[in-house]
Amino acid sequence: MNIRLEQPQDWREVENLTREAFWNVYRPGCQEHFVLNQFRDNPAFIPELDLVMEEDGRIIGHVMFSKAEITLADGTLFPSWTFGPISVDPDYKRKGYGLKLLRYALEKARAMGIGLLQMEGNIDFYKHAGFYLASKLNIHYHGEPAESEVPYFLAQELIPGYWGDREGTYCPPSGYLVADTNPEAFEAYEATFPPKEKHLVPGQLP
Ligand SMILES: CC(C)(COP(=O)(O)OP(=O)(O)OC[C@H]1O[C@@H](n2cnc3c(N)ncnc32)[C@H](O)[C@@H]1OP(=O)(O)O)[C@@H](O)C(=O)NCCC(=O)NCCS
Repeated sequence: MNIRLEQPQDWREVENLTREAFWNVYRPGCQEHFVLNQFRDNPAFIPELDLVMEEDGRIIGHVMFSKAEITLADGTLFPSWTFGPISVDPDYKRKGYGLKLLRYALEKARAMGIGLLQMEGNIDFYKHAGFYLASKLNIHYHGEPAESEVPYFLAQELIPGYWGDREGTYCPPSGYLVADTNPEAFEAYEATFPPKEKHLVPGQLP
């Protein structure tokens, strides 16, 4: 198993991997491959944390990170970071690869001075990499009541004391919303992949 930086010649393979990993998981079909495709040109994208994992001579995992912001109560913006999509090839899921890739990326992020991460995800996976409910740090999710514990909104202070006892609200960077804000471009992009059946399955987000 090898982890290295993504290269331009990997782009299509990694986007296909992302599509395969996310397909029908959170919605019928998925959008995450388009998010990745568009994000590489976004100033918030962090190329040093655009990582692929190789096994058996091919790419089986990928993760990307992005700059983000938290709005404090007085309206000032506090620098933070987020990550995702993170993908593991369906043939390699639940074999420990995702956790290895994430732990490697988190160490690298910490060494780069990244002090705080927050993101949306399943605590059952991310708790193994040190994440907990963001409400524990008094970071609220936009659109949700400040007093609520949002079960999918997770955080981790990578550098102890970076966030301290602040309180603020997080809104995902606009780069994550490209498929919704530009549906025609997304459809045209999706049409470049082999057709795949979309299914509504239990457990998908409403
Ligand atoms: C989520 C994902 C990256 C995890 O990678 P993985 O290699 O399959 O996970 P690991 O084998 O490293 O999992 C380690 C532990 O995390 C937990 N875990 C992993 N995936 C889980 C899931 N989907 N639901 C609940 N717990 C999960 C389990 O406790 C697992 O240990 P176990 O298999 O011994 O029970 C991968 O399954 C994937 O690509 N999923 C589709 C895309 C996705 O959902 N990405 C994350 C979006 S937030």
